[in-house]
Amino acid sequence: MAAGDYLAVRDAIKKIIPQSSYDDGSAGPVLVRLAWHACGTYDKKSGTGGSNGATMRYKLEASDEANNGLEYARKILDPVRQQFPWISYADLWTLAGVVAIEYMGGPKIDWKPGRVDDVDEQYVPPNGRLPDATQGEDHIRSVFYRMGFNDQEIVALSGAHNLGRCHGTTKSTKVADSIYTNSFASGFEGPWVPMPTRFSNTYFKLLLSSQWHKRKNSVGVEQYNDEDNELMMLPTDMALVKDPKFRAWVEKYADDKDLFYRDFAAGFGKLLELGVIRGPEGKALRQYARAKL
Ligand code: HEM
Repeated sequence: MAAGDYLAVRDAIKKIIPQSSYDDGSAGPVLVRLAWHACGTYDKKSGTGGSNGATMRYKLEASDEANNGLEYARKILDPVRQQFPWISYADLWTLAGVVAIEYMGGPKIDWKPGRVDDVDEQYVPPNGRLPDATQGEDHIRSVFYRMGFNDQEIVALSGAHNLGRCHGTTKSTKVADSIYTNSFASGFEGPWVPMPTRFSNTYFKLLLSSQWHKRKNSVGVEQYNDEDNELMMLPTDMALVKDPKFRAWVEKYADDKDLFYRDFAAGFGKLLELGVIRGPEGKALRQYARAKL
């Protein structure tokens, strides 16, 4: 396979998305979360963090509690990497997120290659940069403003919670048990929407229309559930309807699916580029600069 044949990589990613014995039959949501967590460590002021380097390959970052469960996503992409050894993990993880969103009926997202994998741990960002779901609007703003996002972009990106679920404290699947050497748990439990493998604006509609009750889940973690205890919201999700500035965007996206798709595509595309500065040959600069030393 020719180096640089990203269409072939996309096809190989599509093939690993259906996972009959995993979650809701799809690895799509967890691939989206891998891409987001690879990028969401970015700090605008210092220029550190972000997807370049694929630093989550190193234990320090992989073992950040916020990254629990992502080992599965990284492992199922390994055979794709073996098939296309010329692609960097950093490019593969971000591309997998884009392909998964499109596969699940979401918008097309701009994606550019050129990220270079680090060869040692020196650029691994510190733990604790990803958002903590037990917090409220101030915390959400401080984390996302640090990356360079505004309120509208925060709400648009949060629409990714149309996808997937929270995994409690147990493994959710029988498949490939050996993969789960780490804890597989955020402590929260359940999906946000009834069809968690289809991209849509249902999350925003439900945020506004359902009655959400605060309760302790089976492992004693506080979350919000609907009347039937089937769907859930995180405290950070609820902050989007409590805070008036966030709420205005929740209302817009609940009303206008096309607007949400456009804004989500723009926000996710921006997320994937955080900290990725390309040199003249298109290669991301950290390694480029280091190679010249
Ligand atoms: C899942 C927190 C923003 C995409 C989760 C889970 C938590 C969480 C606790 C459950 C993890 C598990 O138990 O496996 C948060 C917080 C956010 C945030 C606190 C911001 C305040 C985002 C953003 C995206 C995203 C910006 C993408 C653009 C996802 C996806 C899942 C997920 C797709 C489902 C994963 C799966 O099914 O395995 N998030 N998240 N999240 N998150 Fe977020």
